[in-house]
Amino acid sequence: MLLKSDSRDQEWVRAFFEVMPDLQVRVWPDIGDPSEINCALLWGPPPGLFEGLDSLEVIFSIGAGVDSLLDCPGLPVTVPIIRMVEPELTAGMVEFCLFHVLRFHRLMHRYQHQQTERHWQDLPQVPARETTVGIMGMGVLGTALVKQLHSLDYRVIGYRRQEGGDGTVEMFHGEAQFEAFMRQTTILVLLLPATAQTRHIINQDTLGLLPSGGYLINAGRGELVDEGDLLSALQSGWLQGAALDVFETEPLPQESPLWNHPNVFLTPHVASITHPASACRYIADAIQDYRSGKTWPYQVRLNQGY
Ligand code: GLV
Repeated sequence: MLLKSDSRDQEWVRAFFEVMPDLQVRVWPDIGDPSEINCALLWGPPPGLFEGLDSLEVIFSIGAGVDSLLDCPGLPVTVPIIRMVEPELTAGMVEFCLFHVLRFHRLMHRYQHQQTERHWQDLPQVPARETTVGIMGMGVLGTALVKQLHSLDYRVIGYRRQEGGDGTVEMFHGEAQFEAFMRQTTILVLLLPATAQTRHIINQDTLGLLPSGGYLINAGRGELVDEGDLLSALQSGWLQGAALDVFETEPLPQESPLWNHPNVFLTPHVASITHPASACRYIADAIQDYRSGKTWPYQVRLNQGY
């Protein structure tokens, strides 16, 4: 196993040892003979990493998103790429989105301003069932979020490009239903991957489809949102608030006006992280299943869109 991690190499090596004691883990760049490597677990691979990996059978992504892999020059096109799906990563993402949905729905951002101004005034309290949360990106993370939102009685709708869904939520599909989805959404949650099709999917025109006074939560990728258009929508009051964990440029440049916007809540791409212990169990199970003739789980389908 070749490991190029997110700066937690030793934690990953220990976790692999716990789950697969016989596995040889080689930590980039000390990879020994590249032709002996048949699996890789990667985050942000540098150009050239794939050189000489002629026996590579599978690539696991450390993150739920695989854009850093797909952007890497030299990525072997025929080797399956497996998305990270592990319960702690999913739970962290659900917590992050739920926290901000509750913040905006219960107008905590406005009470926070009241507190700063030592001003006391009741604001309207809208029941959760009258608040529609629209989720773009109805994969593992979106589906887990739906469950928790439903338990709090929110109305939830989902959007994906192709037909699908597990029947637990009203779904909108394709370009034809995108406008209807946006027009019904009060709090828009982005959990989409960054692809050519999703770049700037949230822009002046699409923000204009949300009802006035909506909110945006972006826990997917910064490239999904045109930040200039987002700022204009916030400044005009069309959008009442945004919670952003990801940005077009990371770290967010010092000069970005987003830092100072009173109704924008920023975090430095920390919505959720992968936990090595459960991730290594997922990898071990996937490898075992594959060896016993099953297909890889959560294999990334290139050019599938979202
Ligand atoms: C984080 O951004 C991830 O892809 O898991």
